[in-house]
Amino acid sequence: MALREIRKEGDEILKKKSKDVEVIDERIKTLIEDMIETMHKYDGVGLAAVQVGILKKIIVIDLYDEKPILKLINPVIVKTKGKQEVEEGCLSFPNKYVKVIRPAEVVVEALNENGKKIKITGTSLLAQAISHEIDHLNGVVLTDVMLPGTMEYVTPEDLENAKK
Ligand code: NI
Repeated sequence: MALREIRKEGDEILKKKSKDVEVIDERIKTLIEDMIETMHKYDGVGLAAVQVGILKKIIVIDLYDEKPILKLINPVIVKTKGKQEVEEGCLSFPNKYVKVIRPAEVVVEALNENGKKIKITGTSLLAQAISHEIDHLNGVVLTDVMLPGTMEYVTPEDLENAKK
């Protein structure tokens, strides 16, 4: 496994649409493992392949709960329900937080890393994360969906000071 470089705000690749994965080979499996390692390194709850410079429809999500890490290949949202207004960050937009409206519930179909079809229903934070990561696959980023005027810039030092 290896860390990959995260593409940041202003990198044109983040605006591009990702393509379907045709064959889940060793390269893809290694990419998925690298994405998970990279997400964990920066304490993210999700990462899309485009964020490490690969225009393939792959996302990983870890909410740091008891559930297994989600590895979704060619994910498609087949149903959404309700709305939630949430605060959101993105590893490609370090230290920035915005408010967005996300579905309260999403149903997503995808392949897992073994090529098996899976269907997952996510609510609250999981619905938010799935919606955010699938936006990345469509070239849509935080600043495209944020509620106007809600961006806050919070540095790690600010968070440290707030604890004191
Ligand atoms: Ni993101």
